[in-house]
Parts: sequence; C-alpha cells; structure tokens
Amino acid sequence: GQGRILVVGSVNVDLVLGVPRHPEPGETIAGTGSRRSPGGKGANQACAAARLGGDVRFAGRTGTGADADLALDLLRRAGADLTATTEVSDAETGLAVVTVDEAGENSIVIIAGANGSWTPQDIEELRAEVAASDLVVSQGEIPAAAVDQLSQLCAETGTRFLLNLAPVIDVAESTLAMADPLVVNESEGRLALTALTGSDAPDDDVATVRRLREAGVRSVVMTRGARGAILAADAEISEIGSPTVQAVDTTGAGDAFVGALALGLARGESAADACRRAARVGAFAVTRHGAQPSYPQQEDVLPG
Ligand code: RIB
Ligand code: NA
Repeated sequence: GQGRILVVGSVNVDLVLGVPRHPEPGETIAGTGSRRSPGGKGANQACAAARLGGDVRFAGRTGTGADADLALDLLRRAGADLTATTEVSDAETGLAVVTVDEAGENSIVIIAGANGSWTPQDIEELRAEVAASDLVVSQGEIPAAAVDQLSQLCAETGTRFLLNLAPVIDVAESTLAMADPLVVNESEGRLALTALTGSDAPDDDVATVRRLREAGVRSVVMTRGARGAILAADAEISEIGSPTVQAVDTTGAGDAFVGALALGLARGESAADACRRAARVGAFAVTRHGAQPSYPQQEDVLPG
C-alpha cells in the first residue's frame, strides 16, 4: 500500500482551563486562563499523522455552527482529506472541558454531541474508503455499534484495524480480537481484559498485555505515559522507552502517539519501529500546551 490512513472518530472543540490544582467536589477555585482549540481523540490522531506527512482521511461528525470550523481548522491546515466528514443538522459539535493543572495533568469532561450520532449504516457508507485504505483507526468516543461495524468492514475488506479503546466502551469481543493493534493505557488495558475474559486483570502491565494476547487480540500496544509503552506482536513482548521531557500539558499526548503509530504501520514499518517514533512524538506533545496545537510538524524536532 501507499500508506493511506482512514481515521473514523470523534472531533471536539476543547475548552482548556488552566488550574493551579484540580478542584474538589463542591469547591470553587480560580483558574489561570482559558483557550479554545481543536480536539477529540479521532481528530487529534488524524492531525498528528497528517502533520508528519501522512496520507490521512478523517471521517467525523460535527454540528452546523461556527464550532465545526474551529474543530476542523488544524486538521484542514494539516492537509487531511475531510470529504467523509459531515455536518449533522440536529446536534452540536462535540465539546470537551479540559482542566490542566501546574504539573500538566488533565481531567476531561466530554459532551459527545454529533459524535454520538454515528450509526452502523453511516459506517457502511464508508465501505469503499475502508477498502482503499492501508490502515483504519478508531477510538471509544463514537458509539460502540459503529466501531463494531467498522471492524466488521475491515475484516470483510482485509484492511488492518487499529483500535484505541479510549475511553473503554462496550465493543464486541470480535472487535477487540480484530484490533491489530489494540492500543490502551494501563487502566484501559485492565478493563479490556476483564471485558474479554470476565476475570480480574493482574496488577502487572506486562502480564496484562500477555493475557490480552492470549485472549485473542492480534497485537497490543499499552501506553504508559513517561514510562513508554509495552508492545506485544507475534510471540514477542517488548518494552519501548520514552524520552524524558518536562511536562507542560499531557492533553492529547496519547493521541499524538496513536497518530504517529498509525503513520508508521500504514507505511509498512515494524510495530517496534513505529512505536519508538510514536513515543518520541507523544513526548514532544507533552512539552507544549493543548492537544493538536502541540503536535510536531516534522520529525527533526523530536526529543530522544
Ligand atoms: O485525548 C484528548 C482528547 O480527549 C481531547 O482533545 C478531548 O477533546 C477529548 O476527546
Ligand atoms: Na500537549
């Protein structure tokens, strides 16, 4: 293939609030500033891959107002193809309220809006796009029935499917098994394993990854923030390091990792090589404010 990527997923406006620390329930605190920028895990991942030169198509759903333009602005500027992205007349563009503390840690509330309107029929209309792609990417911010239908289309067309199960939603076991790779963080990995096996996951990350493979998932990447990632592909389990950086804002760093991983896999790189670059791209994103605004435009700026 030529490295063609189709991302099907969420697109939001992020309202990012700086806070000295996260408020307790019932507490009112003064923030340090606010900014609106494009976000949503699907759009973020597409943006990260497109900024690094990927051939990216993004299929998303927005409302009809000015928020849609803001939400898609950086994707458009990164050169992503948006012909499969549509406006939904009876829904608002997705919204995320993101609070970021002085350590760069965030907490996020999302209102799905138009992202929640995806139906299996909408996915079916992407059949030709899926068949023409080298890699299809999705996440947990659109309905599970849509993600299930997408994985089914990938199976039918022989297209590789990367699933970032963030957040964890109730997809079919066959969808988890089809993921190649399934990309999860530590807590998502444990929840996914419990969903697949019905039993508690081990505390140990490597053991969790191994058991996800044993439960039938084709390949697994577990992201661990500053501690890098664990990759399980073929018979091997390997640890991927991450460069040490000064964290400013971790929002969307996982999405930068996934977008860069998708770029490498779509181009036919080994999963280990693609993960190593992805860790550097994720680390770069941590050093800047926001999600998409923090993504690198070329590889020579990456740390490590
Ligand atoms: O992963 C970060 C993203 O999660 C933010 O951009 C926000 O929109 C939420 O979807
Ligand atoms: Na960032």
